[in-house]
Amino acid sequence: MHLVNTNMAAAFRAANRALYPFTASNGCSRARVHLQGRCQSTATAAVQAKKTKPQAQPEKRKPKTGILMLNMGGPETLGDVHDFLLRLFLDRDLMTLPIQNKLAPFLAKRRTPKIQEQYSRIGGGSPIKKWTAMQGEGMVKLLDEMSPHSAPHKYYIGFRYVHPLTEEAIEEMEEDGIERAVAFTQYPQYSCSTTGSSLNAIYRYYDKRGDKPKMKWSAIDRWPTHPLLIQCFSDHIQKELDLFPPDKRKDVVILFSAHSLPMSVVNRGDPYPQEVGATVQRVMEKLNHSNPYRLVWQSKVGPMPWLGPQTDETIKGLCQRGKKNILLVPIAFTSDHIETLYELDIEYAQVLASECGVENIRRAESLNGNPLFAKALADLVSSHLQSNEICSKQLTLSCPLCVNPTCRKTKSFFTSQEL
Ligand code: FES
Repeated sequence: MHLVNTNMAAAFRAANRALYPFTASNGCSRARVHLQGRCQSTATAAVQAKKTKPQAQPEKRKPKTGILMLNMGGPETLGDVHDFLLRLFLDRDLMTLPIQNKLAPFLAKRRTPKIQEQYSRIGGGSPIKKWTAMQGEGMVKLLDEMSPHSAPHKYYIGFRYVHPLTEEAIEEMEEDGIERAVAFTQYPQYSCSTTGSSLNAIYRYYDKRGDKPKMKWSAIDRWPTHPLLIQCFSDHIQKELDLFPPDKRKDVVILFSAHSLPMSVVNRGDPYPQEVGATVQRVMEKLNHSNPYRLVWQSKVGPMPWLGPQTDETIKGLCQRGKKNILLVPIAFTSDHIETLYELDIEYAQVLASECGVENIRRAESLNGNPLFAKALADLVSSHLQSNEICSKQLTLSCPLCVNPTCRKTKSFFTSQEL
């Protein structure tokens, strides 16, 4: 099996959690854990049937430019977990399973109770839609000022595994009469498992419909080193570093944690590891290399080899070597989701940290509703529209060992657009 990206990552994580037994306990922490008010305690036809209402936004002039914010999404309620898992297991861009159409419903049903339990521990559902809507609102408000020639702008949310689905969002864009459409991945670093899966969904939508888009499409397919993204990450890290005891602050080890990938995905040439590394490098430059750091990888499951070192093993190893002040930084997700609120905050910062004798452990806040992050998104879209480019040069190159024929067709779909 191979992972997905919700940041290329979230998808893998969810798939992994769904496919493999997952155990976690929650208990009193002897370590001083600081999470700033975040969580501290405790077939196919069916999934296509439900439709959501059009994406509500303040009434204004007919939109000219539509920005489709792409992400894996997450179940908003416990009742959404089953269909989320079913779509995820059916996604052949994320993973290939034997007799997938039969195995996916079985796996989804089997794993639903366990995943529901995890979501119940983080407030009953994923906050990803709430954060994406807030980011989209901030982005289009700025865009209407920054880029009057392409205004009015409207954002649309296109999730892979929950409503509003990518296909529903495209329908709405067509109904709105959008002239210029931007497929904007919300994963800063590109993986074929995450952004690639979302772009493939756009290609398949038009392929299934059998006609050409009325809108002119282009894509923002990656943005791992955008200056305002780097600024946001470094601001959030500095804010947390300042909250460590002064005599410990310089010794704090910064652990940048990203969702891991199976080595089978890495070895076919997926660009994600390199792009995550690029983000980390720029953030540390911005921080003037104030602290020692490592890039580590979370959410490995199953017996097959995955990209490492693993975040939990790294925390243990650091403690054994006397490095007991740790700052966790989610570097491949911009908004909170189960991998931050549950895995980092509960599994690692509470349970594991207590077990291995951590002195102080904190987690940098996700970018969520930071106004500077909305500005970063607006700047990315504005620059993209001005550039008149269809996509990055990197998107035109398939993984050297890609075996998914849809990837090539998707690339042709985008590169054949005429702006
Ligand atoms: Fe990377 Fe197909 S898997 S281009």
